[in-house]
Amino acid sequence: MSETLERWQSRRAFILAVTGAAVGLGNIWRFPYMTGENGGSAFLLLYILFVLLLGLPMMMAEIMIGRAGRRSPMQALAFLADEADVSRHWKWLGLFGAITVFFILSFYSVVSGWSIEYLVSAVNGNFVGLSPQQVGASFNAFLADPLRMTFNHTLFMLLTMSVVAAGIVNGIEKLNNVMMPLLYGILIVLAGYAVTTPGFGAAMHWLFTPNVAAITWSVVLNAMGHAFFTLAVGACALMAYGAYMPEEQSLPKAVFAVALLDITVALLSGIAIFSVVFTHGLDPSEGPGLMFVTLPIAFSDLPGGQVWLGAFFLLLLVATWTSSINLAEPMVSMLVGSGWRRSRAAILIGSLVWLVGLLSALSFSTLADVHWVGEMNFFTLVSTIPPDIFLPIGGLLIAIFAAWVMSREAAVAALGVGAGSFRLWQWLVRYVSIPLTVVVLASSLL
Ligand code: PFF
Ligand code: NA
Repeated sequence: MSETLERWQSRRAFILAVTGAAVGLGNIWRFPYMTGENGGSAFLLLYILFVLLLGLPMMMAEIMIGRAGRRSPMQALAFLADEADVSRHWKWLGLFGAITVFFILSFYSVVSGWSIEYLVSAVNGNFVGLSPQQVGASFNAFLADPLRMTFNHTLFMLLTMSVVAAGIVNGIEKLNNVMMPLLYGILIVLAGYAVTTPGFGAAMHWLFTPNVAAITWSVVLNAMGHAFFTLAVGACALMAYGAYMPEEQSLPKAVFAVALLDITVALLSGIAIFSVVFTHGLDPSEGPGLMFVTLPIAFSDLPGGQVWLGAFFLLLLVATWTSSINLAEPMVSMLVGSGWRRSRAAILIGSLVWLVGLLSALSFSTLADVHWVGEMNFFTLVSTIPPDIFLPIGGLLIAIFAAWVMSREAAVAALGVGAGSFRLWQWLVRYVSIPLTVVVLASSLL
């Protein structure tokens, strides 16, 4: 069974696939609005700290398990548990991951659908000449329209599942290759433009002046959850990709490159968006609509603005596409691993996610007043609890398995490092990442 799995065709392909998984809505949409809602620089500082102390070592742990197991996450965990002579119940961690990605993908698809809508609007020139207030109003009108929300969500799920059904090597690898460098290019241009706007100074001040007073337990928890979310760690989704990793590649090098890129994209996006926010006197804690309101305003001042804006949403769409494919993969590979045809598995999973995603798509209109937990509507619920709580819990269990349970030989081989680096990684996971995650989770939940 394990020998029949596909392999990424090159080292570069693996790095691109993991980068594709990591760079997405988390960087461009979620990072700015979470920073806005969580006190600016305090959140940024904690987020970078968590990426380095938790995200990086746990990302290595997760991919390493997939690579050592060479099976879908549940089966890989069961296999490695057998090998280490411990309970096979570890496999339920794979199921927990699948549940996590299920809910994440269900709202991810809805928001990615917004970029389809905005791509079309930009190309049609719908934002030309609108005041900031009118841009905000048109976003709200869009949210309140159940049909348009459902349509874009449906389209995005179709895009995602058709690539997943085709198998990963041929679809995503090629798309990533061409589109991601373009996205970085356009973000750099945007950030360069932001430097020339009057709000740039205020944005830099707000992002980078340490503000310890703003740190509360909820800010700490959100920053930790975001570090996991943005790196795609804790849901066994990278574990699924690790199973396709070539033998000779060094895992830590690949992971460092991805994390660095991920932080860079978030910072560029933050600088661009907050410069516009402060230039036009908008509210940094605007929430999930932040990017969709600020960018049309920003581009309205630029020569050829609508073309740029359209290009931006096109590339964002590609970035979210490569992430959503990663979100779907652990669920699909779980079914494929138990004998399903890939195309059927993709159709079933895609339909279920689509169905539950409708609850998010309608959370701004028909279902706006349906509260699931406390004051939260469905969209708010699934866009906060799975990223901020399920991912850290999943990451924690993955780390425990990798650093305490799995056999040492298998771990060393799958990490692809020498004994010294292995000990350093293991020490970091055992005595820093694991305890830190436990402390933050416990303090903020209790
Ligand atoms: N890392 C993706 C982003 O930043 O948009 C989101 C994501 C992908 C989260 C895959 C979790 C995951 F398993
Ligand atoms: Na990300």
